[in-house]
Amino acid sequence: MVEVGLEEASYPIIIEASSLSSTGEVIRKRIGRKRGVVITDETVDELYGSDLDDSLRNEGMKIDKLVVEPGEGSKSLDVAGRLYQELAELNLHRDSVVLAFGGGVVGDLAGFVGSTFLRGLPVIQVPTTLLAQVDSSVGGKTAINLARGKNLVGTFHQPEIVLIDPVVLETLSSADVRSGLGEVLKYGLIWDENFFWKTVESLELFEEVGDPEELEASVSRCCEIKAEVVGRDELDKGLRQILNFGHTIGHGIEAGSGYGELKHGEAVIWGMIGELWISLNRGYLTDETFDQILGALTRLSLPALPDDLTNARLLEYIHRDKKVRDGVINCVLIKEPGEDIDLERVGDTELKGAWEFLRSLEVSQG
Ligand SMILES: NC(=O)c1ccc[n+]([C@@H]2O[C@H](COP(=O)([O-])OP(=O)(O)OC[C@H]3O[C@@H](n4cnc5c(N)ncnc54)[C@H](O)[C@@H]3O)[C@@H](O)[C@H]2O)c1
Ligand SMILES: [Zn+2]
Repeated sequence: MVEVGLEEASYPIIIEASSLSSTGEVIRKRIGRKRGVVITDETVDELYGSDLDDSLRNEGMKIDKLVVEPGEGSKSLDVAGRLYQELAELNLHRDSVVLAFGGGVVGDLAGFVGSTFLRGLPVIQVPTTLLAQVDSSVGGKTAINLARGKNLVGTFHQPEIVLIDPVVLETLSSADVRSGLGEVLKYGLIWDENFFWKTVESLELFEEVGDPEELEASVSRCCEIKAEVVGRDELDKGLRQILNFGHTIGHGIEAGSGYGELKHGEAVIWGMIGELWISLNRGYLTDETFDQILGALTRLSLPALPDDLTNARLLEYIHRDKKVRDGVINCVLIKEPGEDIDLERVGDTELKGAWEFLRSLEVSQG
């Protein structure tokens, strides 16, 4: 178990193989609520919906279920609006819990709706993708998208508890595993270099989801790191920004690809390589360290960068990001992996250099 320490808003993250079937018991013992609503997507519902339902009903909970379509498109005002209407018809009260059961899309959407309906219901996160288990379910950021950009409307609303069963990752597509791995490797590079190399040595663990206990240990380590960072900076005013390593360029690539061809974490891996290149170019990293990390990251058979994304368009997207203030682009730059990390201003020329490096890699990889 990992604890997110936020004084009265502290909460546990319970990570245990095959624990999905004891969700109801954990909720009864720790939260003690009887009425709830599960928000999930069609894919997760089909695969694991009945396991969760049984577990909750066995504990005598009265549960309703709202199911959305899978995919980023569900993080919209339209879908949130529909969920509010449906919740209103269920006669919930302030003591009812919302269970967000799915990947980051469901976690963000259900978290947002749960945090605003009746001025905020308690939310329980039950993440089912690697990305959601190691990242989005922890930390209390919720969001939906607008046409103008991603995550533009949202809240900070910490969950009551996060329940993680790594065994459900067995059914995840390899692209979704790679996407989650992007965030796992990010934690290593910003916080724990040994963990980075250990993960690189055991990539097949994630590909096969072969050994639930090992996987449990990796997911736990990521949750510990995220919990530590969020515990020190809940509202994203300082330290928490190091979690954006790889995301300045990564978000630009994701936006430039129309949020489709590349998964979030895959774009972040490209972004980390680009941002490490900036560190190298400034003399913060030695050639040797850079080459070692690059070799490890390029083992992940990344999908190609979008063909039609030019440097000029990438820069446009990077400048549009909501983290940009007064035209200043800040980037998380690593000086010593796992140790010395800084948020520093970067210029368009450096970003162009990083982009040209990424393109050259693509050519050399064929
Ligand atoms: N709140 C945060 O702090 C935070 C952090 C990072 C990312 N995010 C958000 O997370 C979202 C991405 O999350 P994601 O990558 O989990 O995507 P996702 O929720 O779309 O899930 C990816 C796909 O996997 C399917 N799926 C889920 N669990 C499965 C399982 N166990 N087996 C088989 N298929 C399964 C889903 O139906 C979906 O099709 C983005 O919207 C991003 O903005 C939020
Ligand atoms: Zn991310």
